[in-house]
Amino acid sequence: LVLVLDFGGQYNQLIARRVRECNVYAEVIPYTTKLEDIIARKPKGIIFTGGPNSVYEEESPSYDKAIMEAGIPILGICYGSQLMAHKLGGQVLTAPVSEYGKTEVEVEVNSKLFEGVSPKTITWMSHTDYIAKAPEGFKVIGHTPNCPIAAMEDEAKKLYAVQFHPEVMHSVEGQKMIRNFLYNVCECSGDWKMDSFVETTIAQIREKVGDGKVLLALSGGVDSSVAAALLARAIGKQLTCVFVDHGLLRKNEGDEVEAVFGPNGNFDLNFIRVNAQERYYSKLAGVTEPEAKRKIIGEEFIRVFEEEAKKIGAVDFLAQGTIYPDVIESGLGKSAVIKSHHNVGGLPDFVDFKEIIEPLRMLFKDEVRKAGLELGLPDNLVFRQPFPGPGLGIRIIGEVTAEKVRIVQDADYIYREELAKAGVDKNLGQYFAALTNMRSVGVMGDGRTYDYAIALRAVMTSDFMTADCAQIPWDVLTKVANRIVNEVKGVNRVMYDCTSKPPATIEFE
Ligand code: XMP
Repeated sequence: LVLVLDFGGQYNQLIARRVRECNVYAEVIPYTTKLEDIIARKPKGIIFTGGPNSVYEEESPSYDKAIMEAGIPILGICYGSQLMAHKLGGQVLTAPVSEYGKTEVEVEVNSKLFEGVSPKTITWMSHTDYIAKAPEGFKVIGHTPNCPIAAMEDEAKKLYAVQFHPEVMHSVEGQKMIRNFLYNVCECSGDWKMDSFVETTIAQIREKVGDGKVLLALSGGVDSSVAAALLARAIGKQLTCVFVDHGLLRKNEGDEVEAVFGPNGNFDLNFIRVNAQERYYSKLAGVTEPEAKRKIIGEEFIRVFEEEAKKIGAVDFLAQGTIYPDVIESGLGKSAVIKSHHNVGGLPDFVDFKEIIEPLRMLFKDEVRKAGLELGLPDNLVFRQPFPGPGLGIRIIGEVTAEKVRIVQDADYIYREELAKAGVDKNLGQYFAALTNMRSVGVMGDGRTYDYAIALRAVMTSDFMTADCAQIPWDVLTKVANRIVNEVKGVNRVMYDCTSKPPATIEFE
C-alpha cells in the first residue's frame, strides 16, 4: 500500500493511477488524516501531492513534521516537495521566474529515484514558488536554469522531492521515476492487479452519491457506456440514462444500445430512449453546408436532452463519461471542458444538478475498455471504433435524408462485416462507408441506372490528428464493392479513398 496524501493538487488521482500501473495499490487520502491512522495502515511509502497554495502562508495545508521521521519513504511532488523542504528547515520562496509547461531537468542519474533516466529529461513544471535552500542532510539531484533545486533527496531517511509532476504524461520519464521510488526506495513487491478498479470505483460512487439521483447522457460510445454500466452497478435505479437516437447512428446501433441498457438488458437503471429521428431529418432537410449540419445536430441534441431533463426534474449529479485524455486535451492546469454527446459546451446549463460525477476521469482508453469487459459489456460496445457525435450526418455529403441514411447504413454494415470476416479490422484505426453526393450512370441487367457512389475509407492512425490510408487487400475491397452494389438499393458505384490526413480529414465533413 502506498498512500497519496492530498494537498489539493489537480492530478492526485492520477498519481494513484500511476502507482497502480506499477502494480502497487495506492489510495488518495486527505491531508487532514491523522498521523497515527496513517502509520496504522503500514504504508510502504507516502506521496505528498501538489497543491495550489504557498507553504509559507499560515492557512496553507500542512502536515506534522513527525511524518518525515516515521521511517516511511516519502516522495514530495511540487507543493509536496516544498512542504518537505519548509518543514525540515529549508527555504521556500516565490521563484524569480516561475516555470510552466515542458521543462528540461538535469538529473543525478546515480540517485535511486533516477535510475535509468536520461541525464537531461523533459518534465512538466507548474509552479510559482520554489525551494531556494534544501534542508540539512539533503542532496540536490536535479536542477533547471530557473529552478536550482528541481529534485532533492535524503537517501538515508528515504525522503525524496521533485518540483515537477512525474505523474503527467508530459513528463517523459515520469513513470520510470515513480517506479524507481516504489521499487528502489519503498521496496514494493508489485503484485497488485488493476482488476479491482471496478470494485473500488463502485464503492466510491456509492459513497459519493448516497441516495441521490444521477442523470447521464448515453451516446452508446465506449466511454458513456462504461460510465453507465459502472453507475448502474453502483446505484441501480438512482441512475437515469437518456439515449437520444438521432437517426444518424450506424445500422442497428440504437437497438444494440437498448439491448444492453434497456429493460431487457443486463443492468438495473432507468433507461430512456428518445427516438428523435424525424425531428433531426426535418431540421436537416435542405441543409448542405457541413458546419451548418454539425451545428443543427448539436443544437437539436441539446433541445431533445433538455426536454427529457425537464421531465426528470432536479437531479443531484450529472454524470459524464470524461476520460483522462479529454482532461489532458482541455489543457493541464485548467479544469476539464464539459464534454457532451457532441462535444457541445454548455450542456449542463439547463440541467438542474448540483455536481458533476466523472467515474472514468483518471482512466485511459485501454483501461476504460478493460473496465467495460469486467462489467460485462459486450465486445461490440467495448471495442467500438470512434464514432463522431454528428454520426452519419457528416458521412453523407450534402443534404441528409432518411433514404440516404438507409443507404450509408447498409453499405457501412457490409463493409464492416467483410473486414471483420477477413480479419483486417483489428489493425485499422477507423473505417467506414460514406455516401458521396455524386450520382453516375451504370448498367444493371439490361437497364440504365443513375445512382449514388459510396466511398470506402480506412485509416491507420495513433492519435487521429494525422492518419495514413490503410491498404485493404484488393480481394476484400472488390468483394465489398460487389456486395454493396448488389445489396444496397440506390448504389451503383463504389470508390476507395486513398488520401491521408492531412490534406484530407478522416471524416468527409
Ligand atoms: P477528422 O475528420 O477531423 O476526425 O479527421 C478526427 C477524429 O475525430 C472524430 N470526429 C468527431 N468526434 N465529434 C466527435 O466526437 C465530432 O464532431 C467529430 N468530428 C470528427 C472522427 O471520427 C475521427 O475519429
